[in-house]
Amino acid sequence: MQQQRENWGSRLGFIMAAAGSAVGLGNIWRFPYTAGENGGGAFILIYLGFVFVIGLSVMIAEFSVGRSTNLAAVGAFKKYNSNWTFVGVLGVLSSFFIMGFYPVVGGWALAYIVKSFTGLMSSVEAIPGVFDAFIGNPVEPLIWMLVFLALNIAIVVKGISGGIEKAGKVLMPLLFALLVLLSIRSVSLPGAGAGLDFLLKPDFSKVNGETFLAALGQAFFSLSLGMGAMVTYGSYLSREENLPQNAFIVTTLDTLVALLAGVAIFPALFAFGLEPAAGPGLVFVVVPTIFAEMGGLGTIFSALFFIALAVAALTSSVSLLETVTAYFIDQRGMSRKKAVYLMGAAMVVTNILASLSLGVMSGVTIFGAGFFDFFDILTDKIFLAIGGMLVSLFAGWVMKKDVLEKELTNGGETKFGLFNIWFVLVKYVNPIAIFFVAIAGIISITQTSLMIFGLVLIAALAIFSKKLA
Ligand code: PFF
Repeated sequence: MQQQRENWGSRLGFIMAAAGSAVGLGNIWRFPYTAGENGGGAFILIYLGFVFVIGLSVMIAEFSVGRSTNLAAVGAFKKYNSNWTFVGVLGVLSSFFIMGFYPVVGGWALAYIVKSFTGLMSSVEAIPGVFDAFIGNPVEPLIWMLVFLALNIAIVVKGISGGIEKAGKVLMPLLFALLVLLSIRSVSLPGAGAGLDFLLKPDFSKVNGETFLAALGQAFFSLSLGMGAMVTYGSYLSREENLPQNAFIVTTLDTLVALLAGVAIFPALFAFGLEPAAGPGLVFVVVPTIFAEMGGLGTIFSALFFIALAVAALTSSVSLLETVTAYFIDQRGMSRKKAVYLMGAAMVVTNILASLSLGVMSGVTIFGAGFFDFFDILTDKIFLAIGGMLVSLFAGWVMKKDVLEKELTNGGETKFGLFNIWFVLVKYVNPIAIFFVAIAGIISITQTSLMIFGLVLIAALAIFSKKLA
């Protein structure tokens, strides 16, 4: 007998969960430093263009693939055309690899909540050293990573409406409230105006080809596209839901949170005369510095910031674990419990390797990179863009136009006035645009053997997935 497939309990629940997937380290950690490195306002304008044209249209495509089949990533592509099964497999594999390092960073965020109260803020000069020593420590970050992973497992094992949806409904509003609070504090500091100018006044002299690449890559990562995550979340949606509208809401929320994170960080950063292009250390080094300089209340604000970061990371990593889990449930007939524990255990191993690669195991490399960088570069620079391009090609060239139109208007019940424009985007514009970004990104990888490994892996999946899945 066929098991009843799980579903989201409510529309709000779905939106909070999908926004929870989108809003993550990408928004609060990566967006501010990428904007900082690329000239601020001008980068943000280009980013907004990519998000609402390419990103939104790909998200609509992913939702359609998932809901029209009621199957998670692998099964969904397979059902239309088994030659395309590998796109789903690639997504599941990408999710697994991102989950190879994301919990390490999630664990750092948890640790920094506690550290905010236990002396981190007492010496401004010591903050960078504290971070370096902490991430290279062989024990401490592992414990926090395990706590973070345990939270993921506890949520996903409870299922769609019982776990993921409930968590999103509580955690997302909490995150939003925390960021609003921090933003108000940040803009009310004396000297904050320079930070707002940096964000809002575009300086086009800093724009070049790389700015576009950074903006498109950021748009994909931030919206959780190209990984099968939105296909999987879409597969639990009911027939009545308006897909383009939901995709628009999720995209808007994701963008709002990224902008809020910018407003929370840059005005304070400028107020204290710090460097906006500080790179990936921005959150863990610059943010505590900002708050330490603030004095007494700074401790609370620092803790709040890292709670927000941990919450954002958690609702995203849950979607990655779910994408992997759903494959074993849908395609392998496994129980949810078994699939979650099995994958959770595998992720414990990958994250231990990733965490140790920043310290005692820094000499151990795989295809020229430490484990942390291996997982990061492989997904961020290779799998993600190619995955997004393939999803777009799939919707434009494999799915039938009338099937899509039916899916996106719920058989004519709802309106989607931009359908034809969307279809041209998905069929022609996106694949071409993403292709160039993917190529540029791939050739920028300095570890040649890793680049070749990534491409060979994709080719192998394309050839063998049909049999494996
Ligand atoms: N969108 C998440 C972030 O911004 O941190 C990261 C992510 C989650 C990417 C889920 C891909 C994914 F499938």
